[in-house]
Amino acid sequence: MSRQRGSQPDDFCVSAAPGPNLNDAPQANNHRVFSGADGVLLDQIPAGPTADEFKFVLGQFLTGLTIVATHDRSGPIGMTCQAFTAVSLSPPLVLFCARTQSETARTIAQTGFFSVSMLGKHQQAVAERFGSSTSRSDRFTSVDWVPGPATGCPLLTGAIGHLECIVHASHPAGDHRIHIGQVVAASAHTATPLTYFQGRYT
Ligand SMILES: Cc1cc2nc3c(=O)[nH]c(=O)nc-3n(C[C@H](O)[C@H](O)[C@H](O)COP(=O)(O)O)c2cc1C
Repeated sequence: MSRQRGSQPDDFCVSAAPGPNLNDAPQANNHRVFSGADGVLLDQIPAGPTADEFKFVLGQFLTGLTIVATHDRSGPIGMTCQAFTAVSLSPPLVLFCARTQSETARTIAQTGFFSVSMLGKHQQAVAERFGSSTSRSDRFTSVDWVPGPATGCPLLTGAIGHLECIVHASHPAGDHRIHIGQVVAASAHTATPLTYFQGRYT
């Protein structure tokens, strides 16, 4: 998966003490390098990896999977979300990243509340359904859920952890948005998590 680099403009500035050129590094079969830079660039951000290269490398990071959800006058709405993490302990903050066009995230911005259901290993079908083009109402007809006691947002039955959050902040970031929530209720259920690695459920 190597990539041709384009020509650089004359005023392209490289540090006097450039870092190692990763593209020239010896590459074993199990070691792939995707670098858009020839050294430490001072005045221009290098192109970086292509989208496919970027996805490939990100796939090396094993994560859990969540269903992020909320509830408005039309009923529950939720989506599968891998880009979820903790932010702060005091106050308790978490974040998830969603595509700018995400209907679920847009609804969360309107309601001001969201829930996070951390999926168990037995819930792969749930992740697939909530991550597909299935309509918002059909996503919830196939699963058991209860309204969260603090916010009313849907908590999926059988998940290994639940959080209920109030929207704390939201920031644009490329083709996604970062949604930060303050946790107002949390519960855990001992079970094996559903994990995701290199585009596969593991
Ligand atoms: C395993 C998996 C992980 C996903 N992770 C994310 C994610 O982190 N952020 C995101 O915006 N979409 C993610 N998606 C895609 C959304 O779940 C999918 O686009 C969904 O249809 C969005 O629904 P919505 O339009 O109701 O928001 C993921 C899908 C799958 C199958």
